[in-house]
Amino acid sequence: MARFDQGVIREIHARIDIGTFIGQYVSLKKRGTDLVGLCPFHGEKTPSFHVHPDRGFFKCFGCGVGGDVIAFVQKLENLPFPEAVRVLASKAGVELEAEDPRAARARSEREAIYEANQIAAAYFARMLRSEEGAGARAYCERRGFSSATIEKFTLGFAPEGWSGLTDELRSQGVDLALAARAGLVKPSQRGGYYDFYRNRLMVPTYATTGEVIAFGGRALDESEPKYLNTSTTPVYTKGDHLFALNVARRAAQRDKTLVVVEGYLDCIALHQAGFENAVAALGTAFTEKQASELRKYAEFVYLCYDADAAGSAAATKSIDIASKVIEHTGSSVRIVTLPEGEDPDSFVRAHGAAAFSRLLETAKPSVEYKLDLRIDGLNAGFESPSAVARKAEAIIRELTPREEWDRWRVYVAGRLKVNVDDLRNSRFLANAANFGPRANGADAGGSRHVPVHRRTSAGTHLEPLSFEREVLGIVLEDPQLAREYGERIAPRRFRNELYRRAYETIVTQAEGLRATADVFAACAQDEEALDVLTSLGARDRSSIVRYGDSQERRAHLDRIVERLQREDDEARYAELSRSIDEMFLAGQPVPRDLLEQFEAAKLKLKK
Ligand code: UTP
Ligand code: MN
Repeated sequence: MARFDQGVIREIHARIDIGTFIGQYVSLKKRGTDLVGLCPFHGEKTPSFHVHPDRGFFKCFGCGVGGDVIAFVQKLENLPFPEAVRVLASKAGVELEAEDPRAARARSEREAIYEANQIAAAYFARMLRSEEGAGARAYCERRGFSSATIEKFTLGFAPEGWSGLTDELRSQGVDLALAARAGLVKPSQRGGYYDFYRNRLMVPTYATTGEVIAFGGRALDESEPKYLNTSTTPVYTKGDHLFALNVARRAAQRDKTLVVVEGYLDCIALHQAGFENAVAALGTAFTEKQASELRKYAEFVYLCYDADAAGSAAATKSIDIASKVIEHTGSSVRIVTLPEGEDPDSFVRAHGAAAFSRLLETAKPSVEYKLDLRIDGLNAGFESPSAVARKAEAIIRELTPREEWDRWRVYVAGRLKVNVDDLRNSRFLANAANFGPRANGADAGGSRHVPVHRRTSAGTHLEPLSFEREVLGIVLEDPQLAREYGERIAPRRFRNELYRRAYETIVTQAEGLRATADVFAACAQDEEALDVLTSLGARDRSSIVRYGDSQERRAHLDRIVERLQREDDEARYAELSRSIDEMFLAGQPVPRDLLEQFEAAKLKLKK
């Protein structure tokens, strides 16, 4: 590992404001001297990610990660320490020195490749604007790309000849052997070098740190291969990166959503249509590495693969990888289904952005997609009902959390139109042989109550102590608020007995409490509650949690009210779902009003 002069690290700390820096990646709100936001390193719904600009570090109280700005870059970009230092040093204009020679060589080779790639991208862009680029410009026009789009993605053109780029690189002093390692040129038989990309529309891929790391070159006609891509180089490993993530991750800050498509040009077309959160996986297989990249920025990942056969095989494989990597952190994967024969590019061009938005809205959760695929196979006559039930059951059992299992079983039973005994059998995988379609007749609760698309499974449950401490901390500072909020945030909601006692005292006596001291006085009889308040006061003043002015405090309490309301709604939904499932499994008809209540509860949750 490289050793850096401590001076380099000190300089980075001095020149880069950690709050501003992290603020580029995470939307942060000021709370006292801290900045607070949603942690980029684990899925969460309520902010527990704190940045302390004055002390130069960040800390997530949810997942425990923390450190200085270098640690942040390491985690976020998945970089080893020396690389993170390099990135930050170059941003801050700090000279690097005293690296160990091997690391320095590797770094300088990577630097040199970034530079060669940059020269190449600029050359291709210039060629697209030149006389020679007329054909490629016409191609862009046919594809509907505006000049703003061409500029935004620095699209370019690699001309016909064999030496255009080679000459350019040579004239800029780039070592051609290095350019060959970067995949830009190829060594020729006669000892020289020639251009790798010829007569192609050039699409550069950028790292999230801004360097050009690879190119895709699309043929301008039907010639094969359709695309020529950079293969593995010292700065690029196929399958590790996503095209356009450098742009899309900023868009993802707003709604925590990323849309994954297969092709460069699909992705570019979506950006032009206003979907700046689109990225391309490039090629058909989606890798775990790419999935974990996405997870850093998005809570909702939409996979939008072509509707052709290759597309759906790729989708199935990608869904498995995506759910494995992404869904275990509370983020969710949705599958967008395009009409037969369309890809995202042709779709937005033909139907417009609003239609694509609707497509996103109707995207299926990954489980539903996988189950439907099985059930549709049955309906198309490819598979026997028992095989479908077995496979559906296997899909369901991969799900975390377990509480969702029954709900999906009911969904499958409803779609397969099986009777209760058969459904039971399907749970015992070995006994699924005599599994058949239900005789027509009583539709025992077979209303297809489609499971609700839960926003997250991990993020919605309250951590009792954190919310209780927050409420207590606030009313301790501003006891009058206990009067205002005592009903909506009722003491009985507190699960911690001591906290509840303290809070209850404050709520019931709120009328007479003006200041923090009054609260301590009111609790004077209850030594344990007093302890809680004291520890809270100390904690509070150590600035881990501060609540700002009274408007901020109210906003904070309002959010807690909302969380409690949502918790109630979820409990209501779960309860109804459970009773319907029970009746269904017992073969009893489900009363209509119960189903209506269930639908209403579901609707409420979807909002
Ligand atoms: P597609 O064949 O679906 O192409 O390949 P596309 O993106 O829709 O391109 P257009 O619209 O025909 O111009 C999807 C992706 O697969 C990779 C590329 O990344 C492409 O964008 N691919 C495809 C290759 O790498 N090489 C190929 O020869 C073909
Ligand atoms: Mn296409």
